[in-house]
Amino acid sequence: MIRVSVVGAAGYSGAEVVRLLARHPGIALSGLFGSPGGKGAAFADLHPDLAGLSGPEVVPFSEESLLETQPEAAILATPNEVSAELAPRLLAAGIRVIDVSGAFRLKDAALYPSWYGFEHPAPGLLAEAVYGLTEWCGDRLEGARLVANPGCYPTSVLLAARPLLPLLAADQPVLVTSASGVSGAGKRSELAFSFCELAGNFKAYSAGTHRHEPEMMQELGLPAGSAFTFVPHLLPVVRGILSTIHVSFEEPVTDVALAERFVVAYAGRPFVRVHPAGRLPELKEVVGTPRAHVGWQLLPGGRRAVFVSAIDNLLKGAASQAVQNLNRVFGLPETEGLP
Ligand SMILES: NC(=O)c1ccc[n+]([C@@H]2O[C@H](COP(=O)([O-])OP(=O)(O)OC[C@H]3O[C@@H](n4cnc5c(N)ncnc54)[C@H](OP(=O)(O)O)[C@@H]3O)[C@@H](O)[C@H]2O)c1
Repeated sequence: MIRVSVVGAAGYSGAEVVRLLARHPGIALSGLFGSPGGKGAAFADLHPDLAGLSGPEVVPFSEESLLETQPEAAILATPNEVSAELAPRLLAAGIRVIDVSGAFRLKDAALYPSWYGFEHPAPGLLAEAVYGLTEWCGDRLEGARLVANPGCYPTSVLLAARPLLPLLAADQPVLVTSASGVSGAGKRSELAFSFCELAGNFKAYSAGTHRHEPEMMQELGLPAGSAFTFVPHLLPVVRGILSTIHVSFEEPVTDVALAERFVVAYAGRPFVRVHPAGRLPELKEVVGTPRAHVGWQLLPGGRRAVFVSAIDNLLKGAASQAVQNLNRVFGLPETEGLP
């Protein structure tokens, strides 16, 4: 059994990681940690629905107590700045790290002050970190020391857009609108995230300024200044992301050609389901599952199309993709421990 500790175990993403690892046949949960000043929680209180399973208590984080749990790997489901400081120290202690935050996703350290609000404390690790969009990692995950789990919005967008890259018209914009359930913002008590502010409402936010924008541009190979527009929206549901991607092609394409492209990209990839042409995914298909669903509608003339991608932000957008990546790092089947 591979010993794995989870930091941020009582947060929305971390709790999903714990839920998956508690049933994983090849993993032993060695330690669960919350914030240093936090109260901690019994395992049964963290997941009352996992009756019959046992696991470590969630205790306030300290580096010494984490090291005492002797993990081979740690999953960090912590704020960006916390992961950025902690990951290098864990790596130095010989512990592999899967980081669910954005601390190691961008390759250019100079982008961190403007998009994340801090100077990166370990810029030397950015080149080493494997950007863990699992289906597109080739063999880079096997044995990796540091995996930067992708953001939830980027996971939904990249899975749909990556196979299209060779077809896109160079002089036309790529326009993305994404709507996320409120758990995407983590546990918060701010007024803007209260029930009365959100219920019955739907709004766009951070147009052109969301920190997932440079991440998507990096992973699509688009230089700064490209005509790429990302507008996130807050949807008054607990979980799920639906992304709509408007693209233009250099040459007219057919549904058959698009279908072939996606079949090749995702053959043997159980966590990406490609819909038949014209059948667009919905949130209810993916919420509570580790899968992404992708579909498209080709527009008249074959030069433009709308792609739609749906995921559960806390699973394929965070916890289940972290477990896919953990499995691959340790040479386990990618599906192990995932429903
Ligand atoms: N929510 C999503 O859909 C989603 C998707 C992909 C990636 N992410 C990323 O995943 C990370 C966690 O997000 P979340 O939504 O799960 O957040 P969250 O619900 O706010 O949970 C954050 C967790 O981090 C812990 N924590 C805070 N400061 C800490 C410190 N100094 N040392 C150790 N632990 C600390 C908290 O402890 P307490 O429980 O004691 O407060 C909590 O368990 C973020 O970086 C986020 O950007 C989130």
